[in-house]
Amino acid sequence: MVDRNGWGRDASTSSGTTHAPPESFVEQANVSDPGVHDEFETNWPDCWERAAALLSWDEPYETVLADGDAPFYRWFADGRLNASYNCLDRHLESGRKNHAAIRWEGKRGERRTYTYRDLYVEVNEFAAALRDRGVEEDDVVTIYLPMIPELPIAMLACARIGAPHSVVFAGLSADALATRMDAADSEYLVTCDGYYRRGDAFNQKSKADNARIALEQDVRTVVVDRLGDDLPHVLGDDEWDYHDLRDEFAGETVAPVSRGAEDMLFLMYTSGTTGEPKGVVHSTGGYLAHVAWTSHAVLDVKPDDTYWCAADIGWITGHSYIVYGPLALGTTTVMYEGTPDYPDRDRLWEIVDRNAVDVFYTAPTAIRAFMKWGSDYPGDHDLSSLRLLGTVGEPISPRPWNWYREHIGGGDCPVVDTWWQTETGAVTISTLPGIDAMKPGSAGPPLPGIDARVVDEAGDDVAPGETGYLTIGRPWPGMARTLYDNDERFVAEYWRRFSEPASDDWRYFSGDTARVDEDGYITVLGRVDDVISVSGHRLGTVEIESAIADADGVAEAAVVGRSSETGETDIYAYVSTESGHDSGREIRRAIRDNVESAIGPLARPEAVIFTPELPKTRSGKIMRRLLEDVANGEELGDTSALRNPEIVGEIQAEIGDAD
Ligand code: WT7
Repeated sequence: MVDRNGWGRDASTSSGTTHAPPESFVEQANVSDPGVHDEFETNWPDCWERAAALLSWDEPYETVLADGDAPFYRWFADGRLNASYNCLDRHLESGRKNHAAIRWEGKRGERRTYTYRDLYVEVNEFAAALRDRGVEEDDVVTIYLPMIPELPIAMLACARIGAPHSVVFAGLSADALATRMDAADSEYLVTCDGYYRRGDAFNQKSKADNARIALEQDVRTVVVDRLGDDLPHVLGDDEWDYHDLRDEFAGETVAPVSRGAEDMLFLMYTSGTTGEPKGVVHSTGGYLAHVAWTSHAVLDVKPDDTYWCAADIGWITGHSYIVYGPLALGTTTVMYEGTPDYPDRDRLWEIVDRNAVDVFYTAPTAIRAFMKWGSDYPGDHDLSSLRLLGTVGEPISPRPWNWYREHIGGGDCPVVDTWWQTETGAVTISTLPGIDAMKPGSAGPPLPGIDARVVDEAGDDVAPGETGYLTIGRPWPGMARTLYDNDERFVAEYWRRFSEPASDDWRYFSGDTARVDEDGYITVLGRVDDVISVSGHRLGTVEIESAIADADGVAEAAVVGRSSETGETDIYAYVSTESGHDSGREIRRAIRDNVESAIGPLARPEAVIFTPELPKTRSGKIMRRLLEDVANGEELGDTSALRNPEIVGEIQAEIGDAD
């Protein structure tokens, strides 16, 4: 039974080509009974016990959901468990101690494998060290490390002693680190001396030192020696070398602290927002249950798989799908420190090939880069071990989706386009690869039990094909519990707009716009602030970008609104091309035709600006706000958060010429 939506095989429908899950995949899928959608619907909220059952509880819960204090929901609240126990000890007890937990691939070609036992030993030693140096249950420990094994080790050590961690992406500045530590009243920091990027050494410790100077509180710091140079990296009192601590606490074990399911597992500050960062609070029980369940049902992770999520643990994707989800399931998780194009553009495929990776999960921005580089790079490697591919982080249009399936997945791997957010904790919209047909360009139906709906300003469901706001009507286990120390802002940011507290009707607002088709498949268009209003019509930038990106030779596109003197908004498109294609008339015509036929003449860009690359944040998001300022000739703010700040000047020169 793979035919829930009536497409027994690949078919063309009004909403484009659909692909049924391949029979060979369905046969082995963790979840392949189409009844799961109905089961969750009729049995809600108890259906979520299926997720909780993937965990080991110190004390079983009795109540699945407590909703008396909405929107502050509590899941499995009277149960108790420890996340580090669930990710380590229980796998040792079940005879998997020599199974690889982490396969680490370093930037300079180093490799390290940690078995579950190795990981257990090191996590215990570090947990003992943290406790000895003063960390108590509920103290927030800030972790400011690049993609080295000590990062997940430190996270699990915190979880073991019941100290919430707050991981700050290693590429962020000293200011950003100080702001986050200050907001979380964090008095403990785990960092390193530095790290390598494309062969150059970067000093991380000096950023950490500058943050400490800016902070009022005293900060006790542990420093991992990553560079292996002779420079001293442990300077003052209250600073310790990680490896010295390990020697000091060698062989020590720490009993995992039994935590209430609702106790905070970690804090994650959201990236890229203006003003105060938001400290998203995640729980221990509901979060872990939801990430384990989605790793099982959506990413189809099996204990004997080699699984690779090529994200950074500094963001939520890495927390949920490099560390907690895969380790809870006892699988082998690959951790990669480097970039996809160093030493060459086939680096990822070399790693997939050598490790026989079964499941690979990455972001559309990476997929578009692979497509731009061409199919020879993956073509040179044996990728036949791959069984499932995933994407997350941005909308992916059909062309890169198809390219991914074809050139990485060999044409027969299902591709899951997973929609979720820092705040949702785990995947909430995606096809189930063993059940649902795929539609390139659409994330898919809400997961079983998730009440995602696209609504208009008044909160009513929009008709199929119409654009609206993406909301979620019922709570789910992995959801954020609040914003750290700021319940009011939590309500204001996510709940006020579409909820009716008077009738106890609570609806979460994601901040995204979306469309839903007649089969209930949701296509996420972009953030609300990515909407351009042209002559009173609301156009999603992503919709236009997708049409442009579908033109032959286009690698990537970003569109923004530019206000004209008459108060109209014009569309400006920034486009990078695939190698071998130039910015000639042909490609301009293809772009125009595509936009016209996909959306209408209304959406035709007023100007198309070609650029070798689009400006991106370090997490790979296109900086549309910056491109908007460039188009409008406005003063540009700080561009230091960009991965490629040098591109901005080139684009400005290009616009100057076009004007
Ligand atoms: C925003 C959340 C959650 C992992 C990484 C990002 C966008 C995420 C998709 C997708 C279209 C997506 C949304 C969302 N987004 N996944 N499959 N299709 N858009 O986490 O930084 O909290 O960003 O990323 O706009 O709101 P984040």
